[in-house]
This record gives sequence, structure tokens and C-alpha cells, in this order.
Amino acid sequence: MKVCVVGASGQLGQYMVQHALDRGHEVVGVCRERSVGKLDRFKGRITIIPGATNDRDVIRKAVAGCDGVLTVLVPWGVQQYSSGTAQAVMDYSPPDARLVFSCGWHISRDGKDRYSWKLKALVAIAGPIARLFRLAELDDQVEACRRIFASTTKWTVVRASDLEEGDSQGLPVWSRHVGDAILESNLTRRVDFALFMVAALENDELIHEAPAIVGCQTPSARAGKA
Ligand SMILES: NC(=O)c1ccc[n+]([C@@H]2O[C@H](COP(=O)([O-])OP(=O)(O)OC[C@H]3O[C@@H](n4cnc5c(N)ncnc54)[C@H](OP(=O)(O)O)[C@@H]3O)[C@@H](O)[C@H]2O)c1
Repeated sequence: MKVCVVGASGQLGQYMVQHALDRGHEVVGVCRERSVGKLDRFKGRITIIPGATNDRDVIRKAVAGCDGVLTVLVPWGVQQYSSGTAQAVMDYSPPDARLVFSCGWHISRDGKDRYSWKLKALVAIAGPIARLFRLAELDDQVEACRRIFASTTKWTVVRASDLEEGDSQGLPVWSRHVGDAILESNLTRRVDFALFMVAALENDELIHEAPAIVGCQTPSARAGKA
């Protein structure tokens, strides 16, 4: 498969590049010009297209001929970074390409997620503060996902729990709604979040799904599988 990783230089992006290479995929990475050096360890093994991920020309070049596109949706700045990125990926990817997007549990597809007071408070407080200081616009990540959910492309939106670093524990488990018992532990290793994203490229059951994921070795996942 030819796979584009949009946001390749970030922590999640670098893990996705590694997993994609491990699976034998040809990889094209997009990242900001100033971050190209973060991908030095992949030199000669991937193609890098430097630029902002919401630059439509950059995305048009990067996704050309790709069978799959893995997009890190981030809300940084006040510049429609998430929605601009998602829109460009949907507009320019080949019609049959598998599109897999990352976000957090705070995104809801159908409004049936049940959130803890902690997450509700975090979104309610952090969102306006981040916007006030022009650091991030969480609403734009919501807008990006609204557009993805409405699109006829072959999308999957992977919604991750809280994240931690550490060695891989295997493919996370998932459920349709935050609040489902299997997700209660609310923790996933970042390396396994990336694994889920890359594996989703070849899992057609995840087309038009917004799986909420949690680490497969967490207590709630183990209890759910028992
Ligand atoms: N962090 C969490 O606890 C958490 C929890 C659940 C879900 N998620 C989701 O996981 C995904 C990855 O998040 P992460 O926190 O792990 O971050 P990450 O993988 O380190 O990715 C951050 C990305 O944002 C880019 N970036 C940073 N500052 C920027 C700026 N000012 N303007 C434009 N781009 C900028 C980085 O590019 P450079 O390399 O160029 O800096 C990188 O591609 C996101 O979709 C997030 O919603 C995160």
C-alpha cells in the first residue's frame, strides 16, 4: 500500500510511520518545514513533503496515488488547522483511498457518549482559554470531524483515551461510545494508538465508524474480554 502520514513528525505521526514501514507500506510524510529533522531516522525510507498540513497544495501533492491516508487532527492556532487539513485530505485523496483520522474522546459522532465530569470540565475550561490565547481552537477539531462524518469517503475517526508512553501492548480494543464499560480505564499507549490507526487501513469493518479506543491490557479491557 502507498500510505501518506499527515502530521508525520509528531509523536503519534512518528509511531505511525514506523508501523507503516514495518508492514511494508510505501510511506509519504507531511510535516512542517521546521520539523523535517525529526524524521531523520527514516531518511531514505520515506518521502517527505514539507509544509503546513492545512495547505491544500501540499496535501494535493502528498496524497496523490495513495491507497491510505493517516491524518493527525490537531487544533493548534486559530487558523482552521484541523478542518482545513481534513477538508484537503478528503478533497484530494483518491476516491477509493482509506482515510483514517485521529482525535480524542471529546469528539462525539452521535451525541450518545457519556462523559466523566472531569472530561466535560476540561473541554469546557480549556477550550475557551486556549482560544483566548490563540493557542488552539478545539471547536475546529469538532468541525473537522463533523465534515468527515458527513462525507462519503472511506473514513474512520479513531478517538483515543488519555495517552501514555511505553512499549507496545498490542492492538487496543474499541467501543462505539465513551461511557461503555470496556473503556473505563481511559488509558492507551501512544504506540498502540498508532498501531490501531495503521491497522484500520486494512480493516473495512471500521469504515464509517468512530471507534473509541483503550489499551488492550488495561483492567477494563481485560474485564470486557473475559
Ligand atoms: N495528548 C493526548 O493526551 C491525547 C489524548 C487523546 C487523543 N489525542 C489525539 O492524538 C493526536 C496526536 O496528539 P498528541 O498530543 O499525541 O500530539 P503529537 O502526536 O505530538 O502531534 C502533534 C502534532 O501537532 C503539530 N503541531 C504542534 N504545534 C503546532 C502548531 N503550532 N501549528 C501546527 N502544528 C503543530 C506537530 O507538528 P510538529 O512536529 O511540526 O511540531 C504534530 O504533527 C491528536 O489527534 C489528538 O487529538 C491526544
